[in-house]
Amino acid sequence: MKKDFLSIDDYSPGQVKRTLELAARMKKTRKTASDIRPLGDRTMAMIFEKPSLRTRVTFELAMVELGGHALETQPPGVRLGRRESVPDLARNLERWVDIVVARVYKNEVIQELAANTRIPAINALCNLEHPCQAMADMMTMVELAGSRFPRVKLAYVGDGNNVCHSLMLASAMMGIELAVASPEGYRPLDRYLERAQQHCSSSGGKVSVLGDPRQAVEGADFVYTDVWASMGQEDEKLERQKIFQPYQINSKLVRSAAADFYLLHCLPAHRGEEVSDELIDGPHSRVFDQAENRLHAQKAIILSLLAPKVAARILEEK
Ligand code: CP
Ligand code: NVA
Repeated sequence: MKKDFLSIDDYSPGQVKRTLELAARMKKTRKTASDIRPLGDRTMAMIFEKPSLRTRVTFELAMVELGGHALETQPPGVRLGRRESVPDLARNLERWVDIVVARVYKNEVIQELAANTRIPAINALCNLEHPCQAMADMMTMVELAGSRFPRVKLAYVGDGNNVCHSLMLASAMMGIELAVASPEGYRPLDRYLERAQQHCSSSGGKVSVLGDPRQAVEGADFVYTDVWASMGQEDEKLERQKIFQPYQINSKLVRSAAADFYLLHCLPAHRGEEVSDELIDGPHSRVFDQAENRLHAQKAIILSLLAPKVAARILEEK
């Protein structure tokens, strides 16, 4: 049966760990290993209903560097299901390409796309999850924490959104401590908390959702934030700016974090809103390492779906 990557939960904790290991190998050998070009005859279709810089560039580059090819099917902003039904689109794509990546407004749309095609589908962000981002985030934390990983505390401060949901699942699988702080009415969905806590019971991790950003940041090794109004929520922007003000990551809020904490952000950042300039430009910031790791993590995800034997062989190599 074909495999998809629509949620972090589509992979077992073991598969997530192996994919992260593979991503680290891909990073180490980038530009030097001319033999890691296993996708010579493979193609990817990319569909973006919403804008993108990082996801768009890194998926195309990932395919190019693996020896394959990626193409975008439509200009960003076009909603799926309008010109033809999503199942029809899905049945067309499988006749031409080997894998499809889609950034959509509604999770149901990517589920419908994946259910109606024989090729693997990857979620490049929807209203509920951003699993490729969480893979790159875990990879970045493993690199920065070294042998201390997974004995680290991550604080996510802000909207309980798509990025937060995937981060909760990935953190729980990896066994780290994650404290989410969001205002009431903007907390992550209960079902993500429940699922994360199930994973914690076998991983030894801890995921909690709080209201107080100071409590979440206390002693944190990593402090993570995302925009207050996600793509599609532009008309709530002013209201959210007022509600989220106490959740801004600034020098005052991070005083109680570990002295050598790292600042993470999936980007794009709305400077002066969820994060102050001095922090995102300061010595604690690792946001561009995270952005770089999107490439390596996605190469590993693509290989795990399209060429699992190659992925296993690379992992076996010393
Ligand atoms: N972080 C992220 O997904 O960036 P883009 O929206 O630019 O793809
Ligand atoms: N939560 C943000 C993430 C952007 C990468 C959004 O959905 O717009």
